[in-house]
Amino acid sequence: MALWGGRFEEDVDDFTQRFGASLPVDRQMYEEDIAGSIAHARMLERQGIINAMDASDIEEGLEEVKALIDSGAFPFDINDEDIHMSVERALTERVGEAGGRLHTGRSRNDQVITDTRLLAKKFCLELMKGNVELRRALIDQAEQHPDTIMPGFTHLQHAQPVLFAHHMLAYYWMFQRDFARLSFAYEQADESPLGSAALAGTTYPLDRQMTARDLGFSGVTANSLDANSNRDFLFDLDHACTVAMMHLSRLAEEIVLWSTSEFGFITLSDRYSTGSSIMPQKKNPDFAELIRGKSGRVVGDYVALFTMMKGLPLAYNKDMQEDKEGVIDAVHTLSDCMRCAAGMISAMEVNEEAMLASADKGYLAATDVADYLAKKGMPFREAHAVVGHLVLLCERRGLRLEDLSLADFRAESDLFDEDITRQLDLRSITNARTTEGGTGAQAVAEQMERVRATFAIDEAAIFIRS
Ligand code: ARG
Repeated sequence: MALWGGRFEEDVDDFTQRFGASLPVDRQMYEEDIAGSIAHARMLERQGIINAMDASDIEEGLEEVKALIDSGAFPFDINDEDIHMSVERALTERVGEAGGRLHTGRSRNDQVITDTRLLAKKFCLELMKGNVELRRALIDQAEQHPDTIMPGFTHLQHAQPVLFAHHMLAYYWMFQRDFARLSFAYEQADESPLGSAALAGTTYPLDRQMTARDLGFSGVTANSLDANSNRDFLFDLDHACTVAMMHLSRLAEEIVLWSTSEFGFITLSDRYSTGSSIMPQKKNPDFAELIRGKSGRVVGDYVALFTMMKGLPLAYNKDMQEDKEGVIDAVHTLSDCMRCAAGMISAMEVNEEAMLASADKGYLAATDVADYLAKKGMPFREAHAVVGHLVLLCERRGLRLEDLSLADFRAESDLFDEDITRQLDLRSITNARTTEGGTGAQAVAEQMERVRATFAIDEAAIFIRS
C-alpha cells in the first residue's frame, strides 16, 4: 500500500504506478532530499515539535540511507513514486516510528521544490566553472597569437582585416554574458521554499529561517502558493543554457568552417577529430558538429518546460513533475559541450600563414582607401564610389589594390599621393583601428585588460559561492 494507504482500498495499477513515477529522474536529487530532511528534523526538534531522541534517530537513519545510495547498493523500488518516498520508506524501515514523525509540518510538494532549488544552485555553479574553463581556453589562444591577422567577415564575405585574438575575444564576451545569466539563475534559485508545506503553510511553529540557513539559502520565499508553483528559476537556468548553446553552436560552426581545406585557418588536434570508415584521407570535425547539433535539444528542453507550465493553476500540479528531466538534460549537455569545446580550442593549431594569405584576398583595404580620400576632404560617399571603381579595375586585371600603380590611383583621384601604397599594408590598416573595442593591436591589448578584470571577478564569484 502507498503512503496514503488509509483512504484507499486498492493499490494503483502496476503500469500506471510506473507511468506516474518520477523516481528514475529525481533519484538524482537524493543528496538534496536528505539534506532537506535533516535540516527539517533539526528544526522540528529545536522548535519542540519532535523530541531529541527522534531527531537523532532520524538524522542517523538518513545518514545511513545516504551512505547506501552513495555506495550504489540502495534497493530502489519503482513502487516508491519518487526519491522523497524512497528515502522516507528506507528511513522508517531503519528507525521505525521516528521516521514517521519526519513528515510533520511538511509536504512532498515543498520537498520537491526545495530539492529542485538546491539542485539548480549546484548546477549553476558547475556550469559557471565550466564556463570559466572555456573562457580560459579562448584567452590562452588570444594571448598565444597576439599579432595574427585574419580576414574579418560580414555576410561571410571578406570585409576588413581583424586580429585573430580579437575574434577569440568576441567569443569570450559571449560566454562572459552567459556567466552573468547563470549567476542570475543561481540567485533566483537561492530562496528556501521549505515550510510552505502542501500549499498554505502549516499550523506548526516552523522556523523557516533556520532551515534556510542550514541549507545554505540566502533567504526564504514570501508566499507559500507561489513557492510551491514557482519554476521560474528553472526557466532562468534553461534560458542561460539555451543562449550558451547557441553561442557554442556558432563557435562550432566557425571551427567546422575554419578546418576545411578551403579555409585552412586551423588544424584540429587528432584528439578532437575523427576519420572516415571509407575515405582514408578524411579528418572530420565531428565533435564541433556534434556541439552545433546538440544546441537543438537544449532549445527543445526549454520549449518543453514552457509548454508544460503555461496553463497551470496555483499551486502544485502533477504536470510539474515533468520539469526536471529537461533541465537536467540541458545542464548536462551544456556542461559536456563546454568541456569539449574548451579542449578543442586549446588543442587546435592556428595556421597564421593561411589566415594572413586569406586576408590578402578580397580587397580588405578598400575601406581604408576610401577613408584616405575622405580624410583629405573628399565626401565619404564619393570616396566610396572611387574605391569601388578601383576594385572593379583590380578584378578585371586580376590584381590586388596594392598592386596598382600610383598612376592607376591618380587616374581616379588626384588626392592620391605616394604614401597610399604604404597605407595598404594589412598590419597598418589593422592597427589603425584604434577605437576602444576595435581590432588594432593597442585596442586589443586594452580590451585584454577588461577581459582579465571580468575573468577575475567571475572566478571570485564562484569561489564565494562554493
Ligand atoms: N513525484 C512528484 C513530483 O516530483 C511529487 C509530487 C508530490 N505531490 C503530489 N501531490 N503528488 O512532482
